[in-house]
Amino acid sequence: MENRAQFGSRAGFIFAAVGSAIGLGNIWRFPGVAYDNGGGAFFFPYLFALLTAGIPLLILEFTIGHKYRGSAPLSLARIKRGGEWIGWWQIAIAFVIATYYSVIIAWAMSYTVFSFNLKWGADTTDFLVADYLKVGDTASFGSFVPGVLIPLILVWLIVLGIMYAGVKKGIEVAAKIMIPLLVVLFVIIVIRALTLEGAVDGLNTFFKPDWGSIMNGKVWVAAYGQIFFSLSIGFAIMVTYSSYLPKKADITNSAFITGFANSGFELLAGFGVFAALGFMAAQQGVGVNEVVQGGVLLAFSVFPSIINEMPGFQHAFGVLFFVSLTLAGLTSLISIVETYIAGVQEKFNVSRTKAVTFGGGLTALVALVFSTQNGLNLLDVADYFINQFGVALAGLFEVVFIAWFAKELKSLQAHADSVSDIKLGAWWRISLSVITPIVLGYMMFDNLRQNLI
Ligand code: PHE
Repeated sequence: MENRAQFGSRAGFIFAAVGSAIGLGNIWRFPGVAYDNGGGAFFFPYLFALLTAGIPLLILEFTIGHKYRGSAPLSLARIKRGGEWIGWWQIAIAFVIATYYSVIIAWAMSYTVFSFNLKWGADTTDFLVADYLKVGDTASFGSFVPGVLIPLILVWLIVLGIMYAGVKKGIEVAAKIMIPLLVVLFVIIVIRALTLEGAVDGLNTFFKPDWGSIMNGKVWVAAYGQIFFSLSIGFAIMVTYSSYLPKKADITNSAFITGFANSGFELLAGFGVFAALGFMAAQQGVGVNEVVQGGVLLAFSVFPSIINEMPGFQHAFGVLFFVSLTLAGLTSLISIVETYIAGVQEKFNVSRTKAVTFGGGLTALVALVFSTQNGLNLLDVADYFINQFGVALAGLFEVVFIAWFAKELKSLQAHADSVSDIKLGAWWRISLSVITPIVLGYMMFDNLRQNLI
């Protein structure tokens, strides 16, 4: 245990944790989810979820990693026998996410290049689906799409290169460069978007509160879902990262910084996206609500259309936007891959290099499946199942195991308090032992009901 890898400093760790949290989910997921779930009124459930689940779980995962000094399976096994499989379940989910997450980063890289000559043309959806991803061409189902394959290979070369370099020289250095760069680029994007005609209408649409939505269970489920995905909690990631913390490091404070930095960026993305959508609506002479999109279409169809119409700086805006997406995605992908590399390394007692080659290489190979024609359809299926069943269940197992089976909350609290300036109160234990399990249990039940009945 003595020669366990370590971050060079607490700041390095915070950059890495923030890098994991800030990802594709902040840029394309949050604005649409907030809009669909009450607009301005969504901030109440969102803030509640952040304070009763997001930050408490971050503190929990940071403390577990810091105290037990292992990746999720090993740390959970050290807490109580029988915990190990929860860690492996989380790692399995992380593995699946890594396969398709890397493909979306590859698209963002391609679109960075397309920005130089607006290659997507006037019909951006048709370009994305038919020309770029080549969906629906059943005659050649299953053959690789070179336009996706090449950037995908590049993504994996970058990620595996960083993983080989190690925790301090690889992950920490990458996060310290990429995250500040991302923030600067993104602030420029938001300022540009806010100066566009129609931006104010976009923001009004985004913030307009639908107070009735607060009474709707679905809205609360969406808030918790967004917090979990966005903060990368319940995936074994934050446990792994904090196991590389120096012995004396303020855990609770780090969790607050990570949580607020992530939400701050999320809000910034909401401003940028909705200002740009307001511009698009003004160009088309329609209401903002008619152009709102989320996910893949928002990034790869709506944004290219916005860029097409932009008066001035359009190429630069395109490059900045897709480079931001790439950077945000890469630091998250690195964290996902690290969780199972650490798991494999400890379980089979092999060197980091071997674990990277085996674990990382395997994901890269599986990811290639999504760069085939019609791979987009598979990606949708994977994303759907992960979000509907994987995430809530993994988080639920984790909190129930710690709070009720191992009854470990009090001793973890003592550990966190021994190194932190902010002392944890009863809110922390109540959030994790009561509120979070109830909400996650309800989420699971709700998903099952919608899918099966
Ligand atoms: N938190 C990242 C995002 O917002 C995504 C992510 C999910 C990263 C799960 C790691 C694990 O996009």
